[in-house]
Amino acid sequence: MTAEIPVIAVDGPSGTGKGTLCGYLAHWLHWHFLDSGALYRILALLVERHAVDINDEVGIASLAGKLDVKFNNPGSGQEIAVVLKGEDVSQLIRTESCGAAASHLAAYPKVRKALLTRQRAFRKAPGLIADGRDMGTVVFADARLKIFLTASADERAQRRHKQLKEKGFDVNLPQLSVEIIERDTRDRERTVSPLRPADDAVVIDTTNLKIEAVISRVSMLVRDRLSDIPEFPGENIY
Ligand code: DC
Repeated sequence: MTAEIPVIAVDGPSGTGKGTLCGYLAHWLHWHFLDSGALYRILALLVERHAVDINDEVGIASLAGKLDVKFNNPGSGQEIAVVLKGEDVSQLIRTESCGAAASHLAAYPKVRKALLTRQRAFRKAPGLIADGRDMGTVVFADARLKIFLTASADERAQRRHKQLKEKGFDVNLPQLSVEIIERDTRDRERTVSPLRPADDAVVIDTTNLKIEAVISRVSMLVRDRLSDIPEFPGENIY
């Protein structure tokens, strides 16, 4: 029964440290990982590659139903690779324009519906770490632990700026700030599965926290809530 397979849902806007936290948790617990944002970003990439109209909800939903995506977690804090039909698209999907197009098509109910089953298929033993916007509210509403990360828009823009520059992207901070606020507003205000914490989520404001502090706080919550799991590892790696 997949319902018995534990899920930890981590939601929140971009730049809050979700990706780093989830990579750590997946490595520590030896659990599977779902970066749901990557699925929306890959769809945006395919829309561009196949010259599909960004307003064609039915066409995009049909692409969503056929996605062949894997996440390769090399562990020890290294970035998780996103593989589309054997092609490593990790870098290609990280641009701000891809993020903006992803947020646009993520508002289509038919697209979200088509991705629902695909996302749930990542729930495999011994457990799943799910990163996104609606993991705790919709996709895995029965998750054993729900975390919602927040941070001020300024801090998030600074973090994204640093991250993108390190990856070699040429980015302008004020423009990035505007794009981040636009994307958040769209994600929060859409009618289907808007970005919001689940009623039973633990909300952590990371504005003034180092990522190590966030990881340490969440690993304590994991120990507390999932202590009944037989193969639970004894030691934190942090
Ligand atoms: O987490 P991210 O920045 O890679 O996500 C890209 C976009 O995808 C985000 O702006 C909104 C959308 N998204 C979503 O609607 N639902 C999710 N579960 C994950 C992402």
